[in-house]
Amino acid sequence: TSGKKTYVIGVSQCSEDSWRMKLNDELRDATYLHDNVELHVVSADDNDKHQIRQINAFMKEDVDLLIVSPNQMNTVTPAIDRAYDSGIPVVLFDRKTDSGKYTAFVGADNEKIGRTIGEYIATRLGGKGTVVEIRGLEGSSPAIERHKGFVSAIRKYPGIRLLASESGTWLQQSGDSVAAKMFARGIVPDYVFGQNDRMAHGAWLAARRCGLEGRIRFVGIDALPGEGGGIELVRDGVLDASYIYPTRGDIVMQQALSILEGRPYERDLYMKAALVTKDNAETMLMQAEEMSHISDQLEKLHRRVDFFFTQYSHQKVYFLLCAII
Ligand code: FRU
Repeated sequence: TSGKKTYVIGVSQCSEDSWRMKLNDELRDATYLHDNVELHVVSADDNDKHQIRQINAFMKEDVDLLIVSPNQMNTVTPAIDRAYDSGIPVVLFDRKTDSGKYTAFVGADNEKIGRTIGEYIATRLGGKGTVVEIRGLEGSSPAIERHKGFVSAIRKYPGIRLLASESGTWLQQSGDSVAAKMFARGIVPDYVFGQNDRMAHGAWLAARRCGLEGRIRFVGIDALPGEGGGIELVRDGVLDASYIYPTRGDIVMQQALSILEGRPYERDLYMKAALVTKDNAETMLMQAEEMSHISDQLEKLHRRVDFFFTQYSHQKVYFLLCAII
């Protein structure tokens, strides 16, 4: 009705989990502020082939813009490159491709996060102790960057020894089984760094089964609010620390719309984040609860407005019919 073009944006998520759900909700909330955006969200369930098929389908559908988080770099990159070469603007978020073919990137500095965690652990250990790392999915960019940052930080502490660094899959079960195998080999470190909270939590569960949870401390990344999220795990002492890995769908959407509407934008947009420890976990939870309350209200309000609009247009049709008759 406003005469503005409606933009169809395809969102290709590599996985489906609470971090991605939060992001999807934020993207949806952001569309409420614009009456000309239609979102098509799909998830590849951690499967590269699936994701390639979904990206190809978005190309056929001729979406106006593609928002994508590639599961693994080398396998999914060619599909994203093809979309980009066909003229579809591409916004990468959280995970990167290994080519320069993208319009914009929005995410956090994973190398810096890894470095901060390395420094945190080294400091907590007073410069002396042992640590193991459970990495994310092989070939997904945050796993590579977090590892790089982490190793570069602990390398500066001669008293800190990295006993093992092994690949997981970002899933809790993988953190559990990788840690269980390490413990079975007699590797019992002072700290486990799981590259996300789910894997760190999995490692804690494995330690608990072996009666080791009191001897080892666990650090993760994501620090999601809400029940079972990383902030709660830190508050409850399961994790020693976590790092907020921002979802910020509002910023992703802003970036997408700037591109579509020809406004200036930063090509590589790195969002700030912060460490969560026992000292600030309670405050963070309170703030997050307030935020989620506001977002719930917004959702309710949106549904009501939608309802009134539908009623209003029905009435308009009704009056129009009366007038004709
Ligand atoms: C969510 C997730 C997070 C992790 C990020 C890395 O799908 O696995 O737990 O921080 O992806 O891309």
